[in-house]
Amino acid sequence: MIMEHKSRLKFCLIPLVVVVLIGEATTDNFNGQSTFAWASYYSDHMVLQREPNRAVVWGYGDVGANVTVSVYPTEKGKVYHSIVQIGPTGKGVWKVTLDAMPAGGPHTVEAVQTTAGKGQSLVLKDVLFGDVWLCSGQSNMAFTVKYASNDSAEIARAADYPHVRLFTADMVASDSPLYDLRAIMQPWAVASPESISGPPHSGLGMHWGYFSAVCWFFGRDLYDSIAVPIGLVVSAWGGTAIEAWSPPEVIKTCNFTTSGTERMDNVPKPVSNSLLFGEASWEADIIVGERQNNSALWNAMIHPFLNMTMKGVIWYQGEANAAFNETDFYGCMFTNMIRTWRSAFHLGSGGQTEPVFPFGFVQLSVSSNENFPELRWTQTNGHGSVPNPDMPRVFMAVAVDLPITGSTSVHPRDKQDVGSRLLLAARHVAYGEPVVFQGPLPTAVKVNSSAKTMDVLYNMTMGTLRLEVRNQDGFEICCSSKENSCKPHTSVWVPAKIIAHTENTVTVSTSMCAKNVTSWRYEWAPAPCPFKQCAVYCKETQLPAPPFKGKVKS
Ligand SMILES: *[C@@H]1O[C@H](CO)[C@@H](O)[C@H](O)[C@H]1NC(C)=O
Ligand SMILES: *[C@@H]1O[C@H](CO)[C@@H](O)[C@H](O)[C@H]1NC(C)=O
Ligand SMILES: *[C@@H]1O[C@H](CO)[C@@H](O)[C@H](O)[C@H]1NC(C)=O
Ligand SMILES: *[C@@H]1O[C@H](CO)[C@@H](O)[C@H](O)[C@H]1NC(C)=O
Ligand SMILES: *[C@@H]1O[C@H](CO)[C@@H](O)[C@H](O)[C@H]1NC(C)=O
Ligand SMILES: *[C@@H]1O[C@H](CO)[C@@H](O)[C@H](O)[C@H]1NC(C)=O
Ligand SMILES: *[C@@H]1O[C@H](CO)[C@@H](O)[C@H](O)[C@H]1NC(C)=O
Ligand SMILES: *[C@@H]1O[C@H](CO)[C@@H](O)[C@H](O)[C@H]1NC(C)=O
Ligand SMILES: *[C@@H]1O[C@H](CO)[C@@H](O)[C@H](O)[C@H]1NC(C)=O
Repeated sequence: MIMEHKSRLKFCLIPLVVVVLIGEATTDNFNGQSTFAWASYYSDHMVLQREPNRAVVWGYGDVGANVTVSVYPTEKGKVYHSIVQIGPTGKGVWKVTLDAMPAGGPHTVEAVQTTAGKGQSLVLKDVLFGDVWLCSGQSNMAFTVKYASNDSAEIARAADYPHVRLFTADMVASDSPLYDLRAIMQPWAVASPESISGPPHSGLGMHWGYFSAVCWFFGRDLYDSIAVPIGLVVSAWGGTAIEAWSPPEVIKTCNFTTSGTERMDNVPKPVSNSLLFGEASWEADIIVGERQNNSALWNAMIHPFLNMTMKGVIWYQGEANAAFNETDFYGCMFTNMIRTWRSAFHLGSGGQTEPVFPFGFVQLSVSSNENFPELRWTQTNGHGSVPNPDMPRVFMAVAVDLPITGSTSVHPRDKQDVGSRLLLAARHVAYGEPVVFQGPLPTAVKVNSSAKTMDVLYNMTMGTLRLEVRNQDGFEICCSSKENSCKPHTSVWVPAKIIAHTENTVTVSTSMCAKNVTSWRYEWAPAPCPFKQCAVYCKETQLPAPPFKGKVKS
């Protein structure tokens, strides 16, 4: 292992200055006599991407030296060649692209450098081929299994998943793109009660330690579903905004000019510094949001992985942008961030990571912040569901109905349902299985002004997929003769109770409205319902209808 593993120290002692410390204390691969080394995120127990993609393996060496790479035991006699060349940072790098490998292992990967007749060897042990998923975002992605529901039982069960492997990048920012990680929180580890439990929590909202609960539950359930090795790479940081994770071209495309410092100045200073996990207040998350510069985490925590071949990404982020009152441009930023990540990973892996790799995200759960409904909507770029024409091969887990009941904590502890909803959507979008992966989606609304009712029609399959109504509340109508007065926070919005439903249609009362109904919206509140008690579900899949808004034609 070439990276030092110092996270315990960092976690316990100095969480707020961790970035600076790591920046200075960069683990230096080039201190010793030789520069021959793997890149930072190649180590024993790792997962390399399986067929049909080809895994990229790279590292450092003496410029001009020959490097050969072999994979044992299955590839008898096969040797990959590379010559060390001056890389993007001036250091010598070598790189090989392995043949497409079937899922399985364990394998040993050996690299041998020959220079001036002298040979040196590096070995990776217990390497599996499988699907590699990158898990990124802010605190709800960083949030660990240890703070999730049923923590002890879930931690004990991790022992049953030795073919799921875990890796957690450390939190580092940089003003220029890095070509390798500066610091690693958790080197590749076999899933076990110890490796998903991580170091003790430091007591601050962004320092969750490892291992990410959403990433774990997604990957574990994926393993149960497809039974191939799964590599989970977490690169997440609490309190961070999308502009920090976006390459400069995205910031430019979306005309986003606010700097990190300006952003922080817009947010009310937190009052509380005590934090109960699972009941963490929104403010506690923001307190540690730091003044991340635009693109700083893209540079330090995503860019280093571009050469790694992977299957796809899952993402849980947006709370900070809601708090920064940055909902207007989130749709532009998010769609373009996905687009640029895709092309950069494709390019960086020499075409091995798919050009339109699957990208899953969690739609924001709950908060007391009134920007949450609009932010959820912009996460779909105003379509209400994914995939959509702006967001191909994107999938989503609805989480608006998964609060800690009676709480607006922005960190709900039920990450199991989030993981399994994400997985269901991934099975369709990423793996092509013919599963129903979306909750009921509205296809038409009809107002009957004499009956004072409005029918909302959902795209159910009659007799097979039927609506289930769990709550009469959840719909609102805009009661105004002018559609353009239906602004989000105005009093023209009145509740419209559900009074009847069929297998595919919900009927709401418009009797609260003496004027014309011009718009409608569904679950349009920061925290609209108790746990799994929003209004509209599919009976067979148990999936909720996502929040929605639309116009009503008179
Ligand atoms: C690298 O290998 C090639 C042939 O495989 C050989 O011609 C060359 O001399 C080698 N270079 C070094 C530095 O060993
Ligand atoms: C953020 O940008 C400012 C101004 O360019 C720079 O001084 C500062 O070092 C940057 N911060 C980080 C964490 O890179
Ligand atoms: C950004 O600004 C340019 C030039 O003013 C404009 O053409 C473009 O539509 C803007 N893009 C967005 C996403 O607002
Ligand atoms: C948020 O932004 C909107 C639109 O730009 C503005 O009207 C509103 O006052 C802002 N709210 C806060 C709390 O800054
Ligand atoms: C990794 O990808 C980046 C971005 O495409 C590229 O600049 C860099 O040279 C690649 N590194 C290696 C070792 O191939
Ligand atoms: C926690 O465990 C209980 C008992 O097995 C189960 O009913 C519940 O659904 C679990 N909670 C989550 C979020 O998985
Ligand atoms: C509206 O509702 C009334 C009953 O209240 C019904 O008679 C009428 O047919 C409905 N109109 C439409 C267009 O469905
Ligand atoms: C509902 O519509 C979505 C989006 O068009 C589609 O993917 C889904 O399969 C439809 N569901 C049903 C049950 O028809
Ligand atoms: C409702 O809309 C219709 C058609 O646009 C219009 O004729 C009618 O006056 C409106 N009624 C009210 C109460 O605004």
